[in-house]
Amino acid sequence: MRKILVTSALPYANGSIHLGHLVEYLQTDIWVRSQKMSGNECTYICADDAHGTPIMLKAQELNITPEKLIEDTYKEHVEDFSDFLIEFDNYHSTHSEENKHFSSYIYDQLKSNGDIINKTINQFYDEKAEMFLPDRYIKGECPKCHAKDQYGDSCEVCGATYACDEIINPVSTVSNTPPITKETDHFFFKLSEYESFLKEWTSADTTQAEIKNKLNEWLTDGLSDWDITRDKPYFGFNIPGETDKFFYVWLDAPVGYIASHKNYCEKHSKDFNEHWDKNSKTELYHFIGKDIAYFHALFWPAMLEGAGFRKPTAIFCHGFLTVDGEKMSKSRGTFFNARTYLNHLDPEYLRYYFASRLTNKIEDIDLSFEDFQSRVNSELVGKIINIGSRCAKFINKDFDNKLANKFNNENLIKECLSKTNDVINNYENRNYSINIRLISSLADNVNKYLDEVKPWVKIKNENERELVQEICTDGLNLFRILIGYLKPILPKISNKVEDIMNCDSMTWANLQEVQLNTEISKFQPIITRITKESIEAMKNECSGEKK
Ligand code: MSP
Ligand code: ZN
Repeated sequence: MRKILVTSALPYANGSIHLGHLVEYLQTDIWVRSQKMSGNECTYICADDAHGTPIMLKAQELNITPEKLIEDTYKEHVEDFSDFLIEFDNYHSTHSEENKHFSSYIYDQLKSNGDIINKTINQFYDEKAEMFLPDRYIKGECPKCHAKDQYGDSCEVCGATYACDEIINPVSTVSNTPPITKETDHFFFKLSEYESFLKEWTSADTTQAEIKNKLNEWLTDGLSDWDITRDKPYFGFNIPGETDKFFYVWLDAPVGYIASHKNYCEKHSKDFNEHWDKNSKTELYHFIGKDIAYFHALFWPAMLEGAGFRKPTAIFCHGFLTVDGEKMSKSRGTFFNARTYLNHLDPEYLRYYFASRLTNKIEDIDLSFEDFQSRVNSELVGKIINIGSRCAKFINKDFDNKLANKFNNENLIKECLSKTNDVINNYENRNYSINIRLISSLADNVNKYLDEVKPWVKIKNENERELVQEICTDGLNLFRILIGYLKPILPKISNKVEDIMNCDSMTWANLQEVQLNTEISKFQPIITRITKESIEAMKNECSGEKK
């Protein structure tokens, strides 16, 4: 049995979960569920990322404390995830005792290694709001093309990136006043001390090829010192020994993985050290989006190395979600919150659709509503689920719910079962789209077979009744296997099918045991088709939100 620890990135506690986030949480959840079906000990850990300037400012705007804001968001996130059938083993917060402990511990270790240095820097300061300003709260004129109203670090018009002090006529977006520059002392993490370690770490199979190339570029360009300090006012953890200085949110955010797991181990009396010891034999995987690869593939392993913890086995990076071919955008009405979707559509539709598009590449994935509707309706409902209703009908009505004691077409069952290892491997390798294609083509074979043997014609003939029972026994066994193959993607539908088939909770092992001579329950409707109206209603609700 493998022992595996899995994480998704920790969503910020200043906003709602949206469909873009869900690419990641669904990708991870499907992977974890498949591992659990193998009988591996696989623990899925996550938390809210509760610190930083945006959270502090949002709380001010809402006239509540940051603690209240993160508490409310926590509840909302947990509900959204749970309604999308995303099953964390633990969902914690980075604003926790455990995280404070481990962040300070790691910092102290790095400091005693001599990896922390002090530098005096000049930073923009908003005198009215009485705070230092991160780049994203500065706007001004681009130094290259002179476009107005550009962000502090990059220009959306000409694409230039620049240092914050190069921007012309800077204005603080917090108070709309011009900032001054002010000196401050900051602590930096000397990442360059870890250059040879990182070269070795990244040359192993720890990241996908695209990320590996990017890392090599970064390593060749040279690693700069990382500013891990933020001045007060800031919502975060005080740097040990300091009253006015805080850890930058990205210092304590990944430590949240350790903290959430520690919290899980305490609650369930599990062995924590087994997973985090320097010489741990367990596996650790981080699922993340491509935008945060730098943090996870450079800073994070270096921090772990410096503090004497184990390193991730691998980092699995995915691309970004686009909607109908374009970047999600609030103004275009293509920025859908998880809750807006749930108000109109079943979560398993999206789970199925995302799975049909997900590979282990870092390419962006597109949600096209036309494709979404037609794939779910014709493939999942019309082709796969339909096998069950076609066959259960006769077993329920004409055979007193009883399956036959032998198959009519045992070869088809064997052929279908022979794909189990491929299915497991495709989940392991995050090639979910290959699984959907495979399962869909197996369903084609089953439907073709049923169309040829026509149980609905044979049932009218008294001497062929037994044959009909056998054919429908074939069909229902095949149905169970196909839904079993989809179980990591469609947990709720799988549970309904387990109820109909009166079988144990499906695992990769027990899926191999066929059902003969057993009774099934009455067939219950499993899922309906997606209607145009429900998609329209969701879009309307979304355009209402943006006003
Ligand atoms: N808080 C940080 C992560 C800290 S991990 C120690 C963060 N939060 S986030 O809320 O902005 O994003 C959470 C995850 O969702 C990230 O992996 C991010 O890449 C992913 N996505 C956010 N928007 C996305 C899309 N539009 N499409 C796909 N994934 C997206 O980053
Ligand atoms: Zn410009």
